[in-house]
Amino acid sequence: MVRNLSYIGFTSPAAEEWRTFGPEVLGCQLADDGPDGAVRLRVDEAVARITVHPGQANDVAYLGWDVGDDAGLDEAAGRVEAEGIEVHRDDDLAKERHVAAVVWFTDPFGFRHELSHGLEQGGPFEPGRPLSGFLTGEQGLGHAVLIVPDLDEGARFYGDVLGFRLSDTIEAGFTLRFFHCPGRAARHHALAIASVPGMVGMHHLMLEVGSIDDVGTALDIINAREIPLAMSLGRHTNDLMTSFYVRTPSGFEVEYGTGGALVDDETWEVGAHDAMSIWGHKPPASGPLLPGVLRPHQPAGA
Ligand SMILES: [Fe+2]
Repeated sequence: MVRNLSYIGFTSPAAEEWRTFGPEVLGCQLADDGPDGAVRLRVDEAVARITVHPGQANDVAYLGWDVGDDAGLDEAAGRVEAEGIEVHRDDDLAKERHVAAVVWFTDPFGFRHELSHGLEQGGPFEPGRPLSGFLTGEQGLGHAVLIVPDLDEGARFYGDVLGFRLSDTIEAGFTLRFFHCPGRAARHHALAIASVPGMVGMHHLMLEVGSIDDVGTALDIINAREIPLAMSLGRHTNDLMTSFYVRTPSGFEVEYGTGGALVDDETWEVGAHDAMSIWGHKPPASGPLLPGVLRPHQPAGA
């Protein structure tokens, strides 16, 4: 079973910009570069959790899910293989990702997932600017929101195969489905999906900080640097997160928030909401920003 989002990787022609955007805007700490010159960022004691590889196009390169231990890894890999999807085992990759063990596969939409455990710890976390800290631990790095061509097929694969549990849905002119990991105190969602027919993409990565002052401080820096906000400060109806969305140098958004709800899977009842936010989360005056990481879906074998 997937326990949380452990790490994430992107490719981007603007990878170098993360050397300042990561620490100065988000408050991350720069880790040592990856072997290909990737910029790697820390948000806690883990050696690194966000990696931006130099590359031709802005894209999500992989989603790294923590499966707890070897038994969890075998169980999850077995479910994927039962779908007829090849699971790759790669010892060199474990070294590169700084995990005890990892396998990877490509899902029906073309996203690469890595199932791993034992993310290596580095030294104490030193934020790139004053910050109370990121909320990680058992809840992992944060959440990812993906765009898939077919919502039902997405829900089937991520639910039935990877074992995510539906938290709730939002129907607000478009539909979003939110999934948590099984557990007594899981993030309201580690993964959410929206659909754009024929397309796949990455909408945002959410990072949760310890206080509203951390959120406000980031907003001040973003405003001073005139970095575009994709959505203003607001509070979500479902996970109750108070957050804003900032456009990163690599096209996708980072949701930067505080106060997200936790879900006890034993007692949670699936909800349905008809609005994204209680207040705020307004698009810029110039109009909504289209997702910056969106490409046509090429089915396997096409
Ligand atoms: Fe989010």
